[in-house]
Amino acid sequence: MCGIVGILGSQPVAPLMLDALRRLEYRGYDSAGVATLEDGELVRRRAPGKLNNLQGVLGNGPLSGTTGIGHTRWATHGAPTETNAHPHSAGGVAVVHNGIIENFRDLREELETDGYRFETQTDTEVVVQLISREMKEGKAPKDAVFATLQRLDGAFALGIIFSGQQDLMIGARRGSPLAIGYGDGEMFLGSDAVALAPFTNKVTFLDEGDWVVLTRNSAQIHDETGAAVERPIRFTQASAYLADKGNHRHFMAKEIAEQPEVIGHTLGEYIDMAEQRVKLPELPFSFADLTRVTITACGTASYAGLAAKYWFEQIARLPVEVDIASEFRYREAPLPDGGLSVVISQSGETADTLAALRYCAGQGQHTVGIVNVQDSSIARECDAILPTYAGPEIGVASTKAFTCQLTVLACMALAAARQRNTITPEQERELVSALVGVPRHIADILRNESELERIAKKLTSARDVLYLGRGINYPIALEGALKLKEISYIHAEGYAAGELKHGPIALIDEDVPVIVIAPHDTLYEKTVSNMEEVAARGGKIVLLTDEINGNGNGAETFEQFRVPRANSFINPMLYAVPVQLLAYHAAVFMGTDIDQPRNLAKSVTVE
Ligand code: G6P
Repeated sequence: MCGIVGILGSQPVAPLMLDALRRLEYRGYDSAGVATLEDGELVRRRAPGKLNNLQGVLGNGPLSGTTGIGHTRWATHGAPTETNAHPHSAGGVAVVHNGIIENFRDLREELETDGYRFETQTDTEVVVQLISREMKEGKAPKDAVFATLQRLDGAFALGIIFSGQQDLMIGARRGSPLAIGYGDGEMFLGSDAVALAPFTNKVTFLDEGDWVVLTRNSAQIHDETGAAVERPIRFTQASAYLADKGNHRHFMAKEIAEQPEVIGHTLGEYIDMAEQRVKLPELPFSFADLTRVTITACGTASYAGLAAKYWFEQIARLPVEVDIASEFRYREAPLPDGGLSVVISQSGETADTLAALRYCAGQGQHTVGIVNVQDSSIARECDAILPTYAGPEIGVASTKAFTCQLTVLACMALAAARQRNTITPEQERELVSALVGVPRHIADILRNESELERIAKKLTSARDVLYLGRGINYPIALEGALKLKEISYIHAEGYAAGELKHGPIALIDEDVPVIVIAPHDTLYEKTVSNMEEVAARGGKIVLLTDEINGNGNGAETFEQFRVPRANSFINPMLYAVPVQLLAYHAAVFMGTDIDQPRNLAKSVTVE
């Protein structure tokens, strides 16, 4: 996660950009840089490390340009050196970038074959070179950027300026946030409204896939097809910046939409993008020595743990026990000497999870915490923490913290597999590459949100809703049901699909929607059989799958929603999103208090 800013100003913009970057430093501070137009020429100042270093560089070599872009970096591809610091520039184009260009290797190879030389190890440099190649072939900057956007896979936000173009800046977003700020004869771009706060409170948040051509007096927004579109202008409250809902009605909606970016950030922390392998921080034990892992957590976090059980057992051949903390803490479970206890908690304060952690520590276990709040009680008491980088989660119903927990656990399982010699380097690369695709796939799902909104409306007349899943999708069925009941107050249960016939099938009639999570993995046919059992009893099937066909994959379905087809390893992260959105939109229709549902609390510090 990096921070970007851009200014078409009326005075020298470098000091203003420093101010904006300071507000964005929470997004990363491995290096920082700015580029401005000095007499029409692109000039850069960059420095590794914190913003103060850049400030020093600018002190020695001030810039006076009134058109500029700036960046504070959180390194993913390439070490945090000055060379790898943004903005990147070549052929009269300068770019700042936040996010991941997944296909940069292929693009780089193509450009190198074409005679282009690369200076950096970053994925961003391909964007610069592609735009400049398009311009060399005669395209105007705007057309060159549009053509380049078609070539990029991944989730990202970009800010771009061009030599000789004093009154032009282009921004683009796919998966990572980007806001336009309107001034008086000035125009701004920023990763969030916080960055723009010193300049303006008049802001437009770009929608997924949008790109914008800015001059000092105009902002022409286009959607991903290139069509001109209008997006609402909002007047943000300076005091509310840090807890701003952006374009969203609720924090929960905002947090769902942030998932491509925060998962990308979390992946960047645990994956060496250049080597395409996981890189965990040093842990005080080896996975090779473990005989068992015990995972404890509450609520949504416990479902992340349950999904992790499948990964650890299947990929790392490491037995895992998962339990909810409120049961585990009193169960007096015997634990193997030198075993590993993993606790998962967004807040890091959940009383039962903390007690479970203390029990495990008392039994001589190594303890690892997967926490979102790094100075929390659980974080402090664990031997080691593997943080999620979800940012503050305000909606009581956990969404982005959950998918970030899954992301960390997936990386951890791969690290365990490597240490235990249960995967080959090729297999690791394949699974890492699947993980790197998660932000892009989630951005694709978010683009079809209106489909889920339509389906959600049909759930609101139900008294009960069942969620079914098999294998690693079973925890997602549990999570889907939890989300729906906690925010819409519609009763819902998640079941392992194979367990249907042992009870819940008795509930099924034409009034009970059954949400089936069934990607085409090795268990797909089995789940289809369970769907047929539901269909035969008149149950209304809402199928979440990765390939839709006309006859509902064998059983008659009421509704279908398509999730991108991907390596089954990453399916839990992908299928989590439609179940979140179904619950969210059902709750919107029901008119409940979505961010603060009745009787619940974000941080449960009592037993
Ligand atoms: C509460 C929240 C849930 C959360 C659970 C565990 O019940 O409403 O969204 O999953 O606590 O919280 P933790 O902070 O430990 O992840």
